[in-house]
Amino acid sequence: MRSEDELSFDEIDEIINPKPEENDFDRILETALTRRGLLKSVMAYGGVAALGSAGISAGLVSGEAQAAKDRFAFSPIDANTLDDITLPDGYSSQVVARWGDPLWTEGVDFDHETRGNAESQALAFGDNIDGMEVFAHGDKTLLVVNNEYTNRKIIWGNREDGKPASDDDILKGKMAHGLTVVEIAEQDGQWSIVKDSPYNRRVTPDTEMQITGPAAGHDLLKTAADPDAKTALGTWNNCGNGSTPWGTYLACEENFNGYFSAEDEEHTVSAELKRYGVSSKDWGYGWAKIDDRFDVAKNPNEPNRAGYVVEIDPRKPDAAPRKLTALGRFKHENAELVINSDGRVVVYMGDDERGEFLYRFVSTGVYAPGAETDSLLEYGQLYAAKFNDDGTGEWLELSPQATGMGSIAEISVHTRIAASAVGATTMDRPEWVSANPNKAEVYAALTNNKNRGVKPNAGGDPTPAGGPNPREKNIYGQIVRWRPVRADHTSNSFSWDLYALAGNPSIPGDASAPSDNISVANMFNSPDGLKFDSNGILWIQTDGNYSNEEAFAGHGNNQMLAGDPATGEIRRFLVGPNEAEITGLTWSTDKRTMFLGVQHPGEKGGSHWPEGGDKVARSAVIAVRRDDGGVVG
Ligand code: FEO
Ligand code: CA
Ligand code: CA
Ligand code: CA
Repeated sequence: MRSEDELSFDEIDEIINPKPEENDFDRILETALTRRGLLKSVMAYGGVAALGSAGISAGLVSGEAQAAKDRFAFSPIDANTLDDITLPDGYSSQVVARWGDPLWTEGVDFDHETRGNAESQALAFGDNIDGMEVFAHGDKTLLVVNNEYTNRKIIWGNREDGKPASDDDILKGKMAHGLTVVEIAEQDGQWSIVKDSPYNRRVTPDTEMQITGPAAGHDLLKTAADPDAKTALGTWNNCGNGSTPWGTYLACEENFNGYFSAEDEEHTVSAELKRYGVSSKDWGYGWAKIDDRFDVAKNPNEPNRAGYVVEIDPRKPDAAPRKLTALGRFKHENAELVINSDGRVVVYMGDDERGEFLYRFVSTGVYAPGAETDSLLEYGQLYAAKFNDDGTGEWLELSPQATGMGSIAEISVHTRIAASAVGATTMDRPEWVSANPNKAEVYAALTNNKNRGVKPNAGGDPTPAGGPNPREKNIYGQIVRWRPVRADHTSNSFSWDLYALAGNPSIPGDASAPSDNISVANMFNSPDGLKFDSNGILWIQTDGNYSNEEAFAGHGNNQMLAGDPATGEIRRFLVGPNEAEITGLTWSTDKRTMFLGVQHPGEKGGSHWPEGGDKVARSAVIAVRRDDGGVVG
């Protein structure tokens, strides 16, 4: 027998996990791997799906597929462009919490004329809801929600051209960022905010937090206000999330760069800051006008203190959140945490920017329920993914030796530069990553990348079409998945394929051709949120082009679909209101309510959801339930 080194990763996988029948990984390997070949192999998925349905009636498919079919307990809905939430028959939704809803009785109800002020906003639910998680605490239900960012034309829509008219306007915007921790309660099937709960909390860009991990105390993080580099202020642009088995929430700092500017617009930033998109101009938030911390000329190290994953314990409202530098610094989308069979903690993470990378963290220590957990996300090894065209891939270690960089601390801060140095694969904007609860298999949404095959990433790395990023000028996006060999999440080898290639089958041409599990009935673009429910259904949320025209004709508004990992079947479950993105997903502990986020409805002025009439559109958390009270995940 050949030694393990002589076998392909897929052959090793086959020996360890023998497959009863041909699957799509085998198809990938058998197919000529030209770009066209790869598209064809993905499109062969329809064949797999058809086989699956036939097999179900014949009792020939795996128990997993049968179980998944039983859980697909809804009839798919059509795309639409209604300014409303659309669900299948037998399901209903309600709004649980909106931007500007007060968390305490000392707050005031949202004012549609003024859209609040800094003081009211600091006491209220933040804006643009993204990642979220429910935590049970005794008989209480705590909901933690990221408030990613603000849209100028919404938060300052009462001002001329949507520009802040005062320092208070700017501070209002700042206070709408961060996170909201809120106790919610259900009465007669309706969820609402428990005002004045001792667990209610706003974590804002000004909240004091602890810097942990390799970069804590490092020169790159030292500022005049914090010469020890141990205490940072605040978190902002928190996109997706993760959670830990020890009951904490992971908030992921994404486009942190857009908040820094310099009074001197001619000021030039370092090459390292430039790699992260920091410049002398911000994205219109204006924070440097009220807080010197965001003037990059005055505080050039301040941007090095953002771009991390932040750990928050919702049961300890007074505890300082922890910035986890061990998990690297980049535009973190979410953090999918898996406890490996040997107890080590593995965290999969995407860096959402065109041509950036997928990452993995493996802890040094092992998780044991009840034992100390702080060190688990402080000590470990970071890796970046390399995908080979033959359906195999490997995790490349980001060590000083492999990267040529001076220290682990430096790699924790300049993580993109480290991943470029080892030749990781440039990806089509990695968004959420989610691990299948039923097997060692991990999915990542690659939302789109108009620069694929057109120009290099911000670090100069080439972005040729191929592998898991098969289409030039990719406007639709795809979902890639990988299986670690031996079902071991700490293994450096994996096999991969595409679960879905989004597109538009009504438009001819290779560029719009989707995989065969995508049809006119379930098409979408720009997959973003991904989350498995406890039964193993993959929920897919979109943040894409909702013009419903030309290449996107028939796609309707942004939506949420359910995917069966075993058969490839994808069904549309929900369509969101106008100009909104659907993002963030979690469930009540009894699994009878699904909570999800509606972000930036009316970002271009075309929505009045959820209140209708002439009301200001407001990002909100909604609850979705079955009318018969059955489980929804
Ligand atoms: Fe905030 Fe990559 O989405
Ligand atoms: Ca996202
Ligand atoms: Ca997105
Ligand atoms: Ca968004």
